Amino acid sequence: MCGIVAYIGYKQAQPILIKGLQRLEYRGYDSAGISILNGSIKTFKTKGKVSELENHIKNKNTDGEAGIAHTRWATHGVPNTKNAHPHFSKSKSLSLIHNGIIENYAILKEELVKRGYQFKSDTDTEVLVNLIEDIRINENVLLDEAVRIALNQVVGAYAIAILSDEHPNTLIAARKGSPLVIGIGEGEYFLASDATPIVEYTKNVVYLQDEEIAVLTRGEDFKIKTTNNKEKTPYVEELEWNLSELEKGGYEHFMMKEIYEQPRSIRDSMRGRLNTTTGTVSLGGIIDYEQTILAAKRITIVACGTSWHAGLVGEYLFEDIARVPVEVEYASEFRYRNPIIEEGDVVIAISQSGETADTLAAIELAKKKGAIIIGVCNVVGSSIARASHAGSYTHAGPEIGVASTKAFTAQVTVLTLMALRLAQLKGSLSRTKFMQLLMEMEALPTKVEKVLNTNGLTEKIAKKFKDVENFLYLGRGYNFPVALEGALKLKEISYIHAEGYPAAEMKHGPIALIDENMPVVFIAPRLGIYEKVVSNIQEVKARKGRVIAIVTEGDTMVREIADYVIEIPETAEYLMPILASIPLQKLAYHMAVMRGCNVDMPRNLAKSVTVE
Ligand code: M6R
Repeated sequence: MCGIVAYIGYKQAQPILIKGLQRLEYRGYDSAGISILNGSIKTFKTKGKVSELENHIKNKNTDGEAGIAHTRWATHGVPNTKNAHPHFSKSKSLSLIHNGIIENYAILKEELVKRGYQFKSDTDTEVLVNLIEDIRINENVLLDEAVRIALNQVVGAYAIAILSDEHPNTLIAARKGSPLVIGIGEGEYFLASDATPIVEYTKNVVYLQDEEIAVLTRGEDFKIKTTNNKEKTPYVEELEWNLSELEKGGYEHFMMKEIYEQPRSIRDSMRGRLNTTTGTVSLGGIIDYEQTILAAKRITIVACGTSWHAGLVGEYLFEDIARVPVEVEYASEFRYRNPIIEEGDVVIAISQSGETADTLAAIELAKKKGAIIIGVCNVVGSSIARASHAGSYTHAGPEIGVASTKAFTAQVTVLTLMALRLAQLKGSLSRTKFMQLLMEMEALPTKVEKVLNTNGLTEKIAKKFKDVENFLYLGRGYNFPVALEGALKLKEISYIHAEGYPAAEMKHGPIALIDENMPVVFIAPRLGIYEKVVSNIQEVKARKGRVIAIVTEGDTMVREIADYVIEIPETAEYLMPILASIPLQKLAYHMAVMRGCNVDMPRNLAKSVTVE
């Protein structure tokens, strides 16, 4: 996701800022920019890499001892120079960088437009910087107070840094929901999204808390107050990590970092879309196509790999909750088999990268046949997002590990929201059931946190089975796609052969494989046709297979027969794939690490498959 770096002190700011942005590159981004204060504010921005920004400013005067810099991962508006940060206020007196999403930006923008403000970008950030300026001028208050008042009007998440030519010795920062770290030097201050850009200058840091505003003045003690105007005493910590650890947020691999980001990424996927107070679901990106989707006789989902597995969960959800017939197609097959698609049919294309060649080709084919394309992508402004008529971004943040983890759970979250929205429009669920589901969804991130805290257990299981050559994953109903996804995770990063199957299909072939050397992972929560899954487990045990079972907290029946059980919290059947897939991600991760595999960049694989 976006990266923030800022500096105020007695050194040249530019080299510190550029180096800082480079240190944050691992987060993923699509454009970069920098503002330097030296009398007035000079801003430089480019689409693409930080190296391009570096080239762009090479022969320019960037002298100045205060500045802010940003790498942007597009959320509002496509990735281009115009939308890149920093953004100026109308008078050009303020320059601001921002991470996060201002959910009520449209309303704020409307008000500002009425008051004569014009906007050059499509971003929510430009709205915020102008809102601050408007308050500062009209309410005749100091800049930090204007920031405080503005932030009280904002709904959403933010980490911001502001430079002002009227206050050349001061840098203002604030956060809610997006991290910010302040580095304390000798009369100088550093600011960044994480400690990576700071650690080489100082080990003394303050992690800004939600709804706190920091006023960092060159040569003076810094002040922190809350958005409720209460002074806070900063808690200065000493950094213990070294640089290489910090780049991955302290995790050894991006994959593990991304697994642990899931409570946040799932929350971000639901943010502004699920409202348990009003009992509604709304997906702004598809609002204009809701009637088309409702009128469709069936929905076809096209995707590849993990995204195809998310699509399979989508099939169960749409049919079960919204009572719409769904077919899920491998994009690579669909594009070459003359599929029956008619005018007005709806095709949902799912892709993390938004660049997968087969999925893109499937879209083009479906479009030619008259279908309406709804995209579910993670990367904003990607080819698939642009080729779709409408869609919903998953907002999982950049996924760097080749094995998809948080993107999968975010895709399933968005598909669940879509199914719920259709159910709401069609009235296919009773109000009580609908509300129960909304509440369960809201509780999901907390339950994911709980699943992630099963420290040690998946590692212990991985240690036991790391040298096997085959693995079987079995599940039924909503958990059949989870079995497929668990098997894919294991094979792609540990190179162990793994198969996913519907549990009851086992007796039609795979049962022949079962002996004392065959580990079988069962996804067996106490839901749906639980007893039948228990029978399937017994069939495996009768043939001396070794069973690892994902079960609901407090389960006793499976515990009696399985070799290992991993407990996950209770939730609605529809939401179980999100919780159940997480221990399987961790299991695959530990197995791969123990086998010495390159977890983040497995052999022969690419993060974005742009070839057939
Ligand atoms: O970017 P996409 O979601 O379109 O990518 C599709 C597949 O290439 C991808 O999910 C792949 O299977 C992952 N490596 C699985 O972890």
